[in-house]
Amino acid sequence: MIEVRELTVKFKRFVAVDDVSLSVAADETVGLVGESGSGKTTVARAIVGLQRPDSGTITLDGVRLGPVARRPKARQRAIQMVFQDPRSSLNPLMSVASIINEAWRTHPDSAPTGDRTMAVHRLLEDVGLDPSVARHRADELSGGQCQRVSIARALAVKPRLLVCDEAVSALDVSVQAQILRLLVDLRRRHRLSMLFISHDLGVVHQIADRIAVMRGGVLVEEGPATEVLGSPRHDYTRSLLDAALELNTHHGEVGK
Ligand SMILES: Nc1ncnc2c1ncn2[C@@H]1O[C@H](COP(=O)(O)OP(=O)(O)O)[C@@H](O)[C@H]1O
Ligand SMILES: [Mg+2]
Repeated sequence: MIEVRELTVKFKRFVAVDDVSLSVAADETVGLVGESGSGKTTVARAIVGLQRPDSGTITLDGVRLGPVARRPKARQRAIQMVFQDPRSSLNPLMSVASIINEAWRTHPDSAPTGDRTMAVHRLLEDVGLDPSVARHRADELSGGQCQRVSIARALAVKPRLLVCDEAVSALDVSVQAQILRLLVDLRRRHRLSMLFISHDLGVVHQIADRIAVMRGGVLVEEGPATEVLGSPRHDYTRSLLDAALELNTHHGEVGK
């Protein structure tokens, strides 16, 4: 469905993403993992069209995607992003209902034809929130609730690919697990494709069908999750795996 081919992004002379090829099929969740600074966010920004590649292409259904401003509306809304910090990605002074309605204003072809209030309530229920949350401002919500609202806003425009960039990284471990469960549930119910980005392999392994590992801008390993986790080919993947296991032991939580 979405295909990144030989993507290179430079900041001045620094190569942040170096010849990365990566694809996400329909219904598939691909985990993109790597330590901070490895280039994951830059790949995500290129996919949503916020970062211009120095070379390489990004295609959706085989058709090339340009920068977001030049993407046809339907192709803009096909790819939605959920960010790490829900507090800074939501306007704190806007009500949850207006946040969702704004998404429909931006993409009118995804707006409900019937009662919008009811549609907002349905969306909130879909992400495990009480419909009464619609009246609240973002700054009245907890971190976990904010992240559910961000997910609802993304879903409001009926995307095909959800790019989650460290979407659970800023949350407490217990809330992190709840949001992960929600994403797993949503991908199944809405047949969503997902690019799930995290520095934490322990989190990625709970959701990804396939895992791609980046280091220093380079994709060092990629394959089915069971293979990458079960018999990592690259030393770097092995060290991420050890770090994740150690963390899980400390938190008293082991994977799946
Ligand atoms: N706008 C920018 N200008 C200059 N350097 C940047 C910019 N964005 C990212 N970088 C650099 O590119 C590298 C990759 O960053 P990023 O994609 O955010 O990595 P990750 O998401 O894996 O932590 C880092 O060294 C970062 O400092
Ligand atoms: Mg990042």
